[in-house]
Amino acid sequence: MENLENLKSELLAEIAGVSDLKAWDECRVALIGKKGKITEQLKGLSALSLEQKIETGKKLNVLKSEIEAALAARKEVLEVEELNKKLMTETVDVTLPIRPEAQGRIHPVSKIYEEVVAIFGEMGFEVAEGPDIEDQFHNFNALNMPANHPARQMQDTFYIPNKNSDDFDDSYVVRTHTSPVQIRTMEAKRPPIRIIAPGRTYRSDYDATHTPMFHQVEGLVIDKNITMAHLKGCLYDFVKAFFELDEIPVRYRPSYFPFTEPSAEMDIGCLKTKTELKIGAGTDWLEILGCGMVHPSVLKAGGIDPDEYQGFAFGVGIDRLAMLKYGIPDLRTFFESDIRWLKHYGFTPLDFSSMTGGLSNNGGSAR
Ligand code: PHE
Repeated sequence: MENLENLKSELLAEIAGVSDLKAWDECRVALIGKKGKITEQLKGLSALSLEQKIETGKKLNVLKSEIEAALAARKEVLEVEELNKKLMTETVDVTLPIRPEAQGRIHPVSKIYEEVVAIFGEMGFEVAEGPDIEDQFHNFNALNMPANHPARQMQDTFYIPNKNSDDFDDSYVVRTHTSPVQIRTMEAKRPPIRIIAPGRTYRSDYDATHTPMFHQVEGLVIDKNITMAHLKGCLYDFVKAFFELDEIPVRYRPSYFPFTEPSAEMDIGCLKTKTELKIGAGTDWLEILGCGMVHPSVLKAGGIDPDEYQGFAFGVGIDRLAMLKYGIPDLRTFFESDIRWLKHYGFTPLDFSSMTGGLSNNGGSAR
């Protein structure tokens, strides 16, 4: 029988030399498996005398448990090592840029839409919608523009024939403004009403600042005791938030819309030079939106008693806001689907607009 002390250090060295779990298992079999070294030693006992059997047997059993303990300890170390190795190779570097092919951009119109919704959402407005193809009742009549009303000519309307009627008054239109959503909202819910309605609008017009399809946001507030002061406060807060300025000069010029009385156009202060337009300072004025107190006939058409409720409304051109805020000179380029244009003027999809996190994220990521 071999010197057990030598055997012990030999086996312990073997265990210490094992470098992964697979090798560990092979080692376990080689030491304490059925044909393992210790097992062989135990088998060898039968050749010894009874006395020697007892003595060596005891020692071998002690050795066996020491080897088992060493194996178990080694296994624990290897398991931790292996787990660490796995964690290292499977780490995700969250600071890496997103996949290079993810290069989509948010169109400035969508960006402004998000900004406007964020601002009015914070003020408690809900987003309302209406169809692009409207009947004349909602686009005109209910808005205090009966057939042959001269104001209908203010808007170069695209008409769509009505298959079921030869009467021109029954033809549809692609809405010339978002104001029909005022009527649809009044038809659908009772005051208090506080909505904005962003969407597409259409007029037969085409130059650097007009395209046949464009975008507006309508605003409508109806409640008891609503006055022009509410309108002014609300729109002042809006332009400040939108242009991300603490102060901004504003003025209201008397105007005319059939569906509001009184009506006004809101201007913001700016500085116009040959090369630059600076908003929020200077002696020039820039028209920004149309607004007014909802006309009593419009409230009636929407089924609301004008003696009980009053309201204000406004309409803003989204595309125009985008041109002003992000310095885009020609509206027609918005709809040419030129990928180079979108890369230049667009916004990365992760630049969310919010009142707390920043509206435009410092003027867009693309520039
Ligand atoms: N609908 C008007 C336009 O398109 C804008 C507007 C909306 C004016 C609401 C007053 C109130 O020019």
